[in-house]
Amino acid sequence: MNSYHVKRKRNIEKGIKINEGLCAEIFEWEDRHKIIKLAKNINSHHDMQLEYLNSQVAWNNGVPIPQPFELIYIDGRPGIVSERIYGTTLMQYFQRQWINNTLGKNDVMQFSHKEIAQMTARMLYKTHNVSVENMPSQRDTITNAIKHAKHLTASELESVVNMLNSIPKKQQLCHGDLNLNNIMIRNNEAILIDWMHASMGNPAADLAEFILMIKYGELPLKDPIREIIIETLIDEYTKLSNITLKMIDNWMLPVAVRRRSLGILPFVEKRKLSAEIRERLKKYTSIK
Ligand SMILES: Nc1ncnc2c1ncn2[C@@H]1O[C@H](COP(=O)(O)OP(=O)(O)OP(=O)(O)O)[C@@H](O)[C@H]1O
Ligand SMILES: [Mg+2]
Repeated sequence: MNSYHVKRKRNIEKGIKINEGLCAEIFEWEDRHKIIKLAKNINSHHDMQLEYLNSQVAWNNGVPIPQPFELIYIDGRPGIVSERIYGTTLMQYFQRQWINNTLGKNDVMQFSHKEIAQMTARMLYKTHNVSVENMPSQRDTITNAIKHAKHLTASELESVVNMLNSIPKKQQLCHGDLNLNNIMIRNNEAILIDWMHASMGNPAADLAEFILMIKYGELPLKDPIREIIIETLIDEYTKLSNITLKMIDNWMLPVAVRRRSLGILPFVEKRKLSAEIRERLKKYTSIK
Protein backbone atom coordinates (compact mmCIF):
# COMPACT_ATOMS: atom_id res chain seq x y z
CA MET A 1 0.00 0.00 0.00
CA ASN A 2 1.35 3.46 -0.77
CA SER A 3 1.53 6.48 1.46
CA TYR A 4 -1.23 8.43 -0.21
CA HIS A 5 -3.59 5.48 0.21
CA VAL A 6 -3.04 5.47 3.95
CA LYS A 7 -5.03 7.88 6.07
CA ARG A 8 -2.59 9.97 8.09
CA LYS A 9 -3.33 9.06 11.66
CA ARG A 10 -1.83 10.61 14.73
CA ASN A 11 -0.79 8.27 17.45
CA ILE A 12 0.95 9.99 20.35
CA GLU A 13 3.28 7.10 21.19
CA LYS A 14 4.39 6.18 17.73
CA GLY A 15 4.03 9.39 15.74
CA ILE A 16 2.37 9.68 12.36
CA LYS A 17 1.82 6.50 10.39
CA ILE A 18 3.78 6.82 7.17
CA ASN A 19 2.82 3.63 5.39
CA GLU A 20 2.36 -0.10 5.84
CA GLY A 21 3.36 -3.32 4.12
CA LEU A 22 2.03 -6.83 4.54
CA CYS A 23 3.96 -7.54 7.73
CA ALA A 24 4.53 -4.18 9.37
CA GLU A 25 3.33 -0.63 9.95
CA ILE A 26 5.74 2.25 9.51
CA PHE A 27 5.54 5.22 11.92
CA GLU A 28 7.57 8.36 12.42
CA TRP A 29 9.89 7.93 15.38
CA GLU A 30 11.46 10.41 17.83
CA ASP A 31 12.28 13.09 15.31
CA ARG A 32 11.70 13.57 11.62
CA HIS A 33 14.85 11.63 10.73
CA LYS A 34 13.75 8.25 12.05
CA ILE A 35 10.98 5.71 11.53
CA ILE A 36 9.92 2.57 13.33
CA LYS A 37 8.89 -0.49 11.34
CA LEU A 38 6.55 -2.19 13.79
CA ALA A 39 5.58 -5.82 13.15
CA LYS A 40 1.83 -6.41 12.88
CA ASN A 41 2.23 -9.78 14.51
CA ILE A 42 3.38 -9.98 18.10
CA ASN A 43 5.13 -13.29 17.34
CA SER A 44 7.46 -11.90 14.68
CA HIS A 45 10.48 -11.59 16.94
CA HIS A 46 12.59 -14.01 14.87
CA ASP A 47 11.74 -12.35 11.52
CA MET A 48 12.35 -8.82 12.78
CA GLN A 49 15.59 -9.80 14.45
CA LEU A 50 16.72 -11.39 11.19
CA GLU A 51 15.75 -8.28 9.23
CA TYR A 52 17.62 -6.08 11.72
CA LEU A 53 20.77 -8.23 11.46
CA ASN A 54 20.55 -8.35 7.65
CA SER A 55 20.21 -4.56 7.46
CA GLN A 56 23.22 -4.13 9.72
CA VAL A 57 25.31 -6.29 7.36
CA ALA A 58 24.16 -4.23 4.37
CA TRP A 59 24.63 -0.87 6.11
CA ASN A 60 28.09 -1.77 7.47
CA ASN A 61 29.17 -2.67 3.94
CA GLY A 62 28.11 0.62 2.41
CA VAL A 63 24.96 -0.60 0.64
CA PRO A 64 22.48 2.28 0.07
CA ILE A 65 19.85 1.43 2.71
CA PRO A 66 18.23 3.32 5.61
CA GLN A 67 20.63 3.28 8.56
CA PRO A 68 19.37 0.72 11.11
CA PHE A 69 19.52 1.97 14.74
CA GLU A 70 17.92 -0.54 17.10
CA LEU A 71 15.40 -3.32 17.61
CA ILE A 72 12.83 -2.49 20.28
CA TYR A 73 9.40 -3.65 21.51
CA ILE A 74 6.20 -1.65 21.79
CA ASP A 75 3.28 -3.39 23.52
CA GLY A 76 5.06 -6.66 22.76
CA ARG A 77 5.40 -5.89 19.06
CA PRO A 78 8.97 -5.98 17.74
CA GLY A 79 10.04 -2.93 15.76
CA ILE A 80 13.14 -1.76 13.91
CA VAL A 81 14.11 1.88 14.33
CA SER A 82 15.92 3.18 11.28
CA GLU A 83 16.66 6.27 9.24
CA ARG A 84 13.67 7.78 7.48
CA ILE A 85 14.09 7.98 3.74
CA TYR A 86 12.57 11.12 2.26
CA GLY A 87 11.80 9.87 -1.19
CA THR A 88 9.29 7.82 -3.17
CA THR A 89 9.01 4.11 -3.78
CA LEU A 90 9.37 2.95 -7.38
CA MET A 91 5.69 1.96 -7.23
CA GLN A 92 4.70 5.52 -6.33
CA TYR A 93 7.05 6.94 -8.93
CA PHE A 94 5.69 4.73 -11.73
CA GLN A 95 2.10 5.47 -10.69
CA ARG A 96 2.76 9.19 -10.96
CA GLN A 97 4.52 8.72 -14.28
CA TRP A 98 1.52 6.73 -15.55
CA ILE A 99 -0.95 9.43 -14.46
CA ASN A 100 1.16 12.21 -15.98
CA ASN A 101 1.54 10.32 -19.25
CA THR A 102 -2.21 9.72 -19.37
CA LEU A 103 -2.79 13.44 -18.87
CA GLY A 104 -0.29 14.20 -21.64
CA LYS A 105 2.22 15.72 -19.18
CA ASN A 106 5.18 13.72 -20.37
CA ASP A 107 7.93 15.93 -19.10
CA VAL A 108 7.05 16.65 -15.48
CA MET A 109 8.84 13.73 -13.82
CA GLN A 110 12.45 14.23 -12.84
CA PHE A 111 13.67 10.86 -14.10
CA SER A 112 12.77 8.72 -17.11
CA HIS A 113 12.08 4.99 -16.77
CA LYS A 114 15.51 4.40 -18.24
CA GLU A 115 17.23 6.52 -15.60
CA ILE A 116 15.32 4.75 -12.84
CA ALA A 117 16.45 1.38 -14.24
CA GLN A 118 20.06 2.61 -14.31
CA MET A 119 19.88 3.75 -10.67
CA THR A 120 18.36 0.41 -9.69
CA ALA A 121 21.13 -1.50 -11.48
CA ARG A 122 23.82 0.54 -9.71
CA MET A 123 22.19 -0.02 -6.34
CA LEU A 124 21.87 -3.78 -6.96
CA TYR A 125 25.48 -3.96 -8.04
CA LYS A 126 26.60 -2.26 -4.79
CA THR A 127 24.53 -4.82 -2.85
CA HIS A 128 25.79 -7.84 -4.76
CA ASN A 129 29.40 -6.70 -4.58
CA VAL A 130 29.42 -7.51 -0.85
CA SER A 131 30.72 -11.00 0.03
CA VAL A 132 29.10 -12.37 3.17
CA GLU A 133 29.15 -15.33 5.49
CA ASN A 134 26.85 -16.66 8.21
CA MET A 135 23.71 -15.50 6.49
CA PRO A 136 20.72 -17.63 5.43
CA SER A 137 21.50 -19.66 2.30
CA GLN A 138 19.67 -18.43 -0.79
CA ARG A 139 19.58 -21.93 -2.25
CA ASP A 140 17.97 -23.39 0.90
CA THR A 141 15.45 -20.55 1.05
CA ILE A 142 14.40 -21.01 -2.58
CA THR A 143 14.35 -24.82 -2.30
CA ASN A 144 12.14 -24.62 0.80
CA ALA A 145 9.82 -22.14 -0.91
CA ILE A 146 9.32 -24.29 -4.00
CA LYS A 147 9.23 -27.77 -2.56
CA HIS A 148 5.53 -27.52 -1.80
CA ALA A 149 4.64 -25.87 -5.14
CA LYS A 150 1.19 -27.28 -5.84
CA HIS A 151 1.21 -26.12 -9.45
CA LEU A 152 3.89 -28.65 -10.49
CA THR A 153 4.01 -32.44 -10.64
CA ALA A 154 6.59 -34.28 -8.52
CA SER A 155 8.82 -34.93 -11.53
CA GLU A 156 8.58 -31.30 -12.73
CA LEU A 157 9.56 -30.20 -9.26
CA GLU A 158 12.49 -32.59 -9.31
CA SER A 159 13.68 -31.03 -12.59
CA VAL A 160 13.47 -27.54 -11.10
CA VAL A 161 15.44 -28.58 -8.00
CA ASN A 162 18.07 -30.30 -10.20
CA MET A 163 18.34 -27.17 -12.29
CA LEU A 164 18.75 -25.08 -9.13
CA ASN A 165 21.44 -27.40 -7.77
CA SER A 166 23.40 -27.24 -11.04
CA ILE A 167 23.92 -23.45 -10.70
CA PRO A 168 27.24 -22.48 -9.05
CA LYS A 169 26.93 -21.42 -5.41
CA LYS A 170 28.04 -17.90 -4.51
CA GLN A 171 28.35 -15.99 -1.26
CA GLN A 172 27.21 -12.51 -2.23
CA LEU A 173 24.70 -10.36 -0.39
CA CYS A 174 21.29 -10.80 -2.07
CA HIS A 175 18.02 -9.07 -1.19
CA GLY A 176 15.49 -11.76 -2.07
CA ASP A 177 12.36 -9.56 -2.17
CA LEU A 178 12.79 -7.12 -5.04
CA ASN A 179 9.43 -5.50 -5.54
CA LEU A 180 8.62 -1.89 -6.41
CA ASN A 181 7.60 -1.06 -2.84
CA ASN A 182 11.00 -2.11 -1.55
CA ILE A 183 13.03 0.27 -3.72
CA MET A 184 12.95 4.00 -2.99
CA ILE A 185 14.40 6.94 -4.90
CA ARG A 186 16.07 9.64 -2.83
CA ASN A 187 17.71 12.49 -4.73
CA ASN A 188 19.24 10.61 -7.64
CA GLU A 189 19.94 7.34 -5.87
CA ALA A 190 18.00 4.11 -5.41
CA ILE A 191 17.72 2.90 -1.80
CA LEU A 192 16.85 -0.68 -0.90
CA ILE A 193 14.53 -1.30 2.07
CA ASP A 194 12.89 -4.35 3.71
CA TRP A 195 15.74 -6.78 4.35
CA MET A 196 13.80 -9.65 5.92
CA HIS A 197 14.49 -12.07 3.07
CA ALA A 198 18.15 -11.24 2.47
CA SER A 199 20.52 -14.13 1.95
CA MET A 200 23.96 -15.25 0.94
CA GLY A 201 23.89 -16.42 -2.64
CA ASN A 202 24.05 -15.73 -6.33
CA PRO A 203 23.24 -12.18 -7.52
CA ALA A 204 21.75 -13.54 -10.76
CA ALA A 205 18.78 -14.82 -8.71
CA ASP A 206 17.93 -11.27 -7.57
CA LEU A 207 18.20 -10.05 -11.17
CA ALA A 208 15.94 -12.86 -12.41
CA GLU A 209 13.39 -11.93 -9.74
CA PHE A 210 13.43 -8.25 -10.67
CA ILE A 211 13.05 -9.09 -14.37
CA LEU A 212 10.10 -11.46 -13.77
CA MET A 213 8.41 -8.90 -11.54
CA ILE A 214 8.74 -6.15 -14.17
CA LYS A 215 7.75 -8.49 -17.02
CA TYR A 216 4.61 -10.02 -15.49
CA GLY A 217 3.68 -7.96 -12.42
CA GLU A 218 0.40 -6.05 -12.20
CA LEU A 219 2.16 -2.67 -12.46
CA PRO A 220 1.49 0.81 -13.83
CA LEU A 221 3.80 0.14 -16.80
CA LYS A 222 2.98 -0.29 -20.50
CA ASP A 223 4.62 -3.29 -22.23
CA PRO A 224 7.24 -1.29 -24.24
CA ILE A 225 8.27 0.49 -21.01
CA ARG A 226 8.67 -2.87 -19.26
CA GLU A 227 11.05 -3.90 -22.02
CA ILE A 228 13.03 -0.66 -21.74
CA ILE A 229 13.39 -1.12 -17.96
CA ILE A 230 14.57 -4.73 -18.29
CA GLU A 231 17.00 -4.00 -21.15
CA THR A 232 18.45 -0.94 -19.41
CA LEU A 233 18.83 -2.75 -16.10
CA ILE A 234 20.70 -5.64 -17.72
CA ASP A 235 22.78 -3.29 -19.83
CA GLU A 236 23.84 -1.12 -16.90
CA TYR A 237 24.44 -4.07 -14.56
CA THR A 238 26.54 -6.00 -17.07
CA LYS A 239 28.68 -2.88 -17.65
CA LEU A 240 29.53 -2.94 -13.94
CA SER A 241 29.95 -6.67 -13.38
CA ASN A 242 31.00 -9.73 -15.34
CA ILE A 243 27.63 -11.40 -15.03
CA THR A 244 26.27 -12.84 -18.31
CA LEU A 245 22.76 -13.15 -19.72
CA LYS A 246 23.12 -16.94 -19.50
CA MET A 247 23.79 -16.71 -15.75
CA ILE A 248 20.61 -14.69 -15.25
CA ASP A 249 18.64 -16.95 -17.56
CA ASN A 250 19.60 -20.03 -15.51
CA TRP A 251 17.72 -18.59 -12.54
CA MET A 252 14.52 -17.78 -14.39
CA LEU A 253 12.94 -21.21 -13.92
CA PRO A 254 13.53 -21.71 -10.16
CA VAL A 255 12.73 -18.08 -9.36
CA ALA A 256 9.57 -18.16 -11.50
CA VAL A 257 8.43 -21.28 -9.61
CA ARG A 258 9.07 -19.55 -6.32
CA ARG A 259 7.17 -16.41 -7.37
CA ARG A 260 4.32 -18.56 -8.70
CA SER A 261 4.07 -20.23 -5.28
CA LEU A 262 3.50 -16.92 -3.48
CA GLY A 263 -0.08 -16.75 -2.23
CA ILE A 264 -0.45 -12.99 -2.74
CA LEU A 265 0.11 -12.75 -6.51
CA PRO A 266 -2.74 -11.56 -8.74
CA PHE A 267 -4.39 -14.23 -10.92
CA VAL A 268 -3.14 -12.81 -14.25
CA GLU A 269 0.46 -12.70 -13.03
CA LYS A 270 0.17 -16.32 -11.88
CA ARG A 271 -1.16 -17.33 -15.30
CA LYS A 272 1.71 -15.59 -17.11
CA LEU A 273 4.28 -17.12 -14.77
CA SER A 274 2.77 -20.58 -15.31
CA ALA A 275 3.17 -20.15 -19.08
CA GLU A 276 6.80 -19.10 -18.63
CA ILE A 277 7.44 -22.08 -16.32
CA ARG A 278 5.88 -24.57 -18.78
CA GLU A 279 7.97 -23.17 -21.64
CA ARG A 280 11.19 -23.33 -19.65
CA LEU A 281 10.51 -26.81 -18.26
CA LYS A 282 9.92 -28.05 -21.81
CA LYS A 283 13.24 -26.57 -22.95
CA TYR A 284 15.12 -27.81 -19.89
CA THR A 285 13.86 -31.40 -20.09
CA SER A 286 14.48 -31.58 -23.86
CA ILE A 287 18.17 -30.59 -23.58
CA LYS A 288 18.91 -32.75 -20.55
N1 LIG B 1 13.07 3.85 6.21
C1 LIG B 1 11.95 4.24 5.58
N2 LIG B 1 11.77 5.54 5.25
C2 LIG B 1 10.62 5.93 4.62
N3 LIG B 1 9.62 5.10 4.27
C3 LIG B 1 9.76 3.79 4.57
C4 LIG B 1 10.93 3.29 5.23
N4 LIG B 1 10.78 1.95 5.40
C5 LIG B 1 9.57 1.64 4.87
N5 LIG B 1 8.97 2.74 4.37
C6 LIG B 1 7.64 2.78 3.69
O1 LIG B 1 6.81 1.76 4.21
C7 LIG B 1 6.48 0.78 3.18
C8 LIG B 1 6.47 -0.62 3.78
O2 LIG B 1 7.75 -0.92 4.33
P1 LIG B 1 8.37 -2.39 4.29
O3 LIG B 1 8.46 -2.86 2.89
O4 LIG B 1 9.64 -2.36 5.06
O5 LIG B 1 7.23 -3.19 5.07
P2 LIG B 1 6.80 -4.73 4.97
O6 LIG B 1 5.61 -4.93 5.82
O7 LIG B 1 8.00 -5.57 5.26
O8 LIG B 1 6.46 -4.87 3.44
P3 LIG B 1 6.02 -6.17 2.60
O9 LIG B 1 4.64 -5.87 2.14
O10 LIG B 1 7.03 -6.15 1.47
O11 LIG B 1 6.15 -7.36 3.49
C9 LIG B 1 7.52 0.99 2.09
O12 LIG B 1 7.04 0.60 0.81
C10 LIG B 1 7.80 2.49 2.19
O13 LIG B 1 6.80 3.21 1.49
MG1 LIG C 1 8.12 -4.31 1.60
